[in-house]
Formats: sequence, structure tokens, C-alpha cells
Amino acid sequence: MKERVYNFSAGPSMLPLEVLQRAASEITNYNGSGMSVMEMSHRSKVFDEIFQRAKAKLRTLMAVPEEYEILFLQGGASTQFSMVPLNLIGRTGRADYAITGNFANIAFKEAKKYGIVRQACSSADQGHTYIPGQAELNLDPGASYFYYCANNTIYGTEWHYVPDTGAVPLVCDMSSDILSAPVDVSRYGLILAGAQKNMAPAGVTVVIIRRDLAGHELPITPLMLSYQTMIDKDSMYNTPPCWCIYMLGLVLDWVEEQGGVAAMEANRKKKAGLLYDVIDSSRLFTAHARPDSRSYMNVTFRTGDDALDARFVAEAAQAGFTNLKGHRLSGGMRASVYNAVPLEGVEKLADFIRKFDRDN
Ligand SMILES: Cc1ncc(COP(=O)(O)O)c(C=O)c1O
Repeated sequence: MKERVYNFSAGPSMLPLEVLQRAASEITNYNGSGMSVMEMSHRSKVFDEIFQRAKAKLRTLMAVPEEYEILFLQGGASTQFSMVPLNLIGRTGRADYAITGNFANIAFKEAKKYGIVRQACSSADQGHTYIPGQAELNLDPGASYFYYCANNTIYGTEWHYVPDTGAVPLVCDMSSDILSAPVDVSRYGLILAGAQKNMAPAGVTVVIIRRDLAGHELPITPLMLSYQTMIDKDSMYNTPPCWCIYMLGLVLDWVEEQGGVAAMEANRKKKAGLLYDVIDSSRLFTAHARPDSRSYMNVTFRTGDDALDARFVAEAAQAGFTNLKGHRLSGGMRASVYNAVPLEGVEKLADFIRKFDRDN
């Protein structure tokens, strides 16, 4: 059997080995219940405990204030691209979007179906290599919300500041950097994140919403896409993604055992720093993102020669480093170093990059 590889996938991506082993040990009989979590009623007492524990742990780890609701939804982060405008744009009929990458742009196009939606900024002019600064944001004080994507998974850029939009609530897609550093949740109206990078297997989407923002959805909003429906039913209007919520709980335990989000932040700085250092000091490689906008989660780089990039990816895979090919929109390479990617794997990848640079 093949050894586990160092998997630099952008998502779904590595889960902590201890979490997978724990899940394996409980897979046929969870905690003496005589059944798998996959087999139990979502209304049962035993599942309710799993659900409430995961929710409470997320609240603790992210220090989510009382006036915010935590929802475990389905449909991926992409469903939130519709759910956000359907539920939030009604206040003024207008919204601002920061276009710093592919997913923000998809969200922007989707929101246009439901109101007057403007680009508050865009980094498309320079191939999404940077995050616009506060002074570059063209803000509409009458917007119902300001939307941005904290970490641009494809381009490898990340917001290193929280935009100041005055009284306009911030809506943030944190799919690819949630739980990788402390976040002041009180600065946000709504945080959304697909789970399949830092949290759990694909299938659950976390939404953290300030309660007063819910309940004002457009009349056309489908029942299942109403935040209020899900708040009223504690995410269980219908059958929730039970297994993924259980796995999320295990990952949250693991994050806590590692020292919480502050420890995750120290790790991400170390891991991404190692890679950017080796890229910056190489002859062959350049990083895609401008230094002040670089992502701690997705390190994007290239040689400038597509054939050489392809050879790098192939030789890296041979050496046990998988999924380093960049997204087709940005090309080159991408090493995603989410929370569960071990430092040791990143150190070895840095050595591999150094050797490839020397040998070519
Ligand atoms: C930042 C970001 N937002 C949204 C998405 C879309 O997520 P999903 O596939 O869960 O709909 C992704 C997927 O990679 C992402 O990286």
C-alpha cells in the first residue's frame, strides 16, 4: 500500500492524521451507540450531542460573540454566493463587492441578479496578484453589505487587513483561511466558509451570522436558502450533513489540542515563510503574489516556462509531494499549506524546490 503522501491540494485537502485515525476507530460503533455516525438519526440524543459540541467548540475557538448564530449548512460556499444577496441585499437594494479573484467574481455575478451591485475594487488589472489597500476601496455608504474573499485560493493572495466600511456590514468568504489565525468576529456581519480546506470533509458549510441581519430576505428566497429558516431550526430544518459535522468536531478538538487559532497562525507563518523564502532566493522561481498580499495558505509560484513547470510538478509527485499543479486560471504551481499540512512536509518541499533550482 502506498504511504501517505504530502498532499498540497487546494481542497479537499489534508485532514490531521489523528483525526482520520480517530474517525476510523469509531466508524462502525460511535461511543458505544452500536452504530456509525453515518447511520444515526439526526434527531437522536447522541447526534445532538455531537452537533452541539461542534458548535460550542467553534464558538470558543473563534471567540464568536453571543449575538452571532453559527449555522452548519449544505451546498458549499458557492450556495452562499446566492444566499448572501437573497438574504441581505433587501435592506437598501445595493451591495459592494471586492473583486480579488475567481470566487469573489462568481459571487459578484450571482449577486447582480438580486440588486444593484458594484465593484468596490478589483485586482484584475494586474492578474489578481495583489489586494487593494483601504484607500483604493470605492465604498457606497448605502450598500446593504460589503463582500470580500479573505483568501484567494487560486491566485494565492490574502487580505492582511480588515476593510473599514463604516456602518456597512462586512460579509467575508473565509473558505480557505478560516481557523488559520484569530479573527475578530465582531467586525463582521457574516462569515461563510466551505469546510473542505481547514475544517472537515466537503459537505458542510459554516456560516456565522449576526442575528439581526437575518429575517429580511427577499420574498422570492427559497425556504432552504433563508438564514432565518436555519436559525429557527438550529440548522436542522432538514437532515444536516451529519458525518461532516462529526468530522468538523474532531478537527476542532485537534485545533484546540494544538493550541488553538493562535498556534495555527504561528504554524502558517512558519510554513508559508519557508516556501516564500526558498522561492525568493531561487534563480528559477517567482511567486505570483505581490509580497504585501501573499497568502499564508496557498503559495503560488512559477518558473515562467510551462514545460519546466510541468516537469517540476511531475518530479515533485514522484518524490511524494502531490497536487502542486496550479489552477488553470493562474497556471504555474500552487502549494496549499492548510492547518493539517505538517511542517515536516513543507520543510521537505522547500528542500525539493532548492534542489530543483540547483539542478536546472
Ligand atoms: C475562497 C473560496 N470560495 C469559494 C469556493 C467554492 O467552494 P465550494 O466548492 O464549497 O462551493 C472555494 C473553493 O475552492 C474557495 O476556495
